[in-house]
This record gives sequence, C-alpha cells and structure tokens, in this order.
Amino acid sequence: MTFLVFIGAPGSGKGTQAQSLAAEHPDRFVHISTGQLLRDALVEGTPHALYLKNLMESGKLIPDEEIFTVLEDKLKSIKASHLVILDGFPRTLNQALLLSDFAKNTGKHVEKVVYFDIADAELVNRLAGRFMCADCGAVYHKHHNRPLQDGVCDLCGSKNFQVRNDDNEDVIAKRLGIYHAETKPLVSYYEAQGVLLRLDAAQSVDSIKKTLLKEIKLVAAE
Ligand code: AP5
Repeated sequence: MTFLVFIGAPGSGKGTQAQSLAAEHPDRFVHISTGQLLRDALVEGTPHALYLKNLMESGKLIPDEEIFTVLEDKLKSIKASHLVILDGFPRTLNQALLLSDFAKNTGKHVEKVVYFDIADAELVNRLAGRFMCADCGAVYHKHHNRPLQDGVCDLCGSKNFQVRNDDNEDVIAKRLGIYHAETKPLVSYYEAQGVLLRLDAAQSVDSIKKTLLKEIKLVAAE
C-alpha cells in the first residue's frame, strides 16, 4: 500500500481534490479523510462521541494516538493495491512519526506529500461558502463548486445537504491558528525528505486537478 498525503490549511481544497480523484479512478485511489471518519463516528451519540464533537466544534485537534487508532482501523479494510490518499492526516509532527513507523513496520510507504499552498484570506471565503452532502460527505461551494444538478449530490444522488458546525468565523480563526502552529511545520519536514509537491491551491479546481493528475500518474505508474 502506498500513501499520498494531502496537507494544507482548512479550506485549501484537500477534500475536494481527493474526493474527485477517488470518484473518477476508484480502482486506483481510496480517499480517507480523518475529519470525515470522525464526523461519521459522531452519529453514535455516545459520551465519547460528544467529547469528540466538542473538540471538533471548538476547532481543536483530536489527540494524536486516538486519531491514529481511528486511521489504523480504517486501513484494515483497504486493498493493498490501492493508492491511499490521506486527507487531513498527519497534522502534527508526532502524527507524521506515527505514520512513518506504521509504514516501516508494515512494508508501506509515503510516496508523495502534496502541500496545498494558499493565503489565509482566501480560506475564509471558501469555508464560509462550503456545504456538503449530508449522506456521503461530498463537498461543494455555493459559488465555485456547485452540484451539476442543483439540489442533487453528484456522487450519491442525495437531496440532503448541510453546513459544517465548525465553519463559522470564530472556529475558522481557531483552526487556522492551530494549523499554523501544529501542521505547517510538516511542510519543511517533508521537504527535507524530498517527497513534497507544493501546489498553488489558489488556482481553479480544474487546473489543480490537472497538475495533480500529471504528478500522480507518474507515481501510480511506478
Ligand atoms: P477536517 O474535516 O480534515 O477539516 P480541515 O482540515 O479543517 O479541512 P477542511 O475539510 O475544512 O478543508 P479542505 O482542505 O478539505 O477543503 P475543501 O476541499 O472542503 O477536520 C475537521 C476536524 O476534525 C479538525 O478540526 C479536528 O478537530 C479533527 N481532525 C481531523 N483530522 C485530524 C487529525 N489528523 N488530528 C487531529 N484532529 C483531526 O474546500 C473548502 C471549500 O472550498 C469547499 O466549499 C470547496 O467546494 C471550495 N474549493 C475547494 N477547492 C477550490 C478551488 N480550487 N477554488 C475555489 N473553491 C474551492
């Protein structure tokens, strides 16, 4: 199993690109969003789910060991031949080390780390306009990225949409602060390892996708 890691600030477009690659090439890519895994777990309504919900809705990170356990569980169901897009993991240096140890111990490896590089000012506009399919989690934007047929999810056909509870001004500011303090240092960490691909994430969804496909085809063909 090979990992393709997507890192970048909240709203930089990691989920949009990962979702699109996995939908168009299901035999090659699997998209794992740790944020979505957590949101799926919240519906259980247990005291622990409530604890996670509070952390997420206040923009804080879930403890490293806990999020890693959630990820490890998910990886058990993935075929070894797939290229796994990790969207939102790792987000701290400690998580990067957990991933690296896991890869070493299981004969897997991180092929590339794609850094979605974009200014904070643009992110607020993106997050404020985001809405999602309530059934499959597909991501849209009220201006830049609407479903092909208004009111119907492109991926699963659902007509239920929702806005994330953490997409409000105060929580966005908190998430950005944590991103700069905890996650941004991973850019130089992976650059030093020679696996970083820096993307201009302010481009359109389509042009980012073209650049990514060009790079990933090379990876996937190896
Ligand atoms: P998570 O769900 O991962 O949220 P995030 O990292 O804050 O990232 P986002 O999903 O907000 O942004 P994105 O980059 O995917 O942007 P998107 O493609 O949606 O995590 C949520 C929470 O879970 C965390 O705060 C934390 O509590 C917890 N968590 C998750 N992982 C964790 C971990 N590893 N450790 C600890 N805690 C963890 O795009 C945004 C909007 O912009 C959309 O509307 C989209 O349509 C639009 N858009 C996308 N691309 C473009 C473009 N090129 N041009 C114009 N608009 C665009």
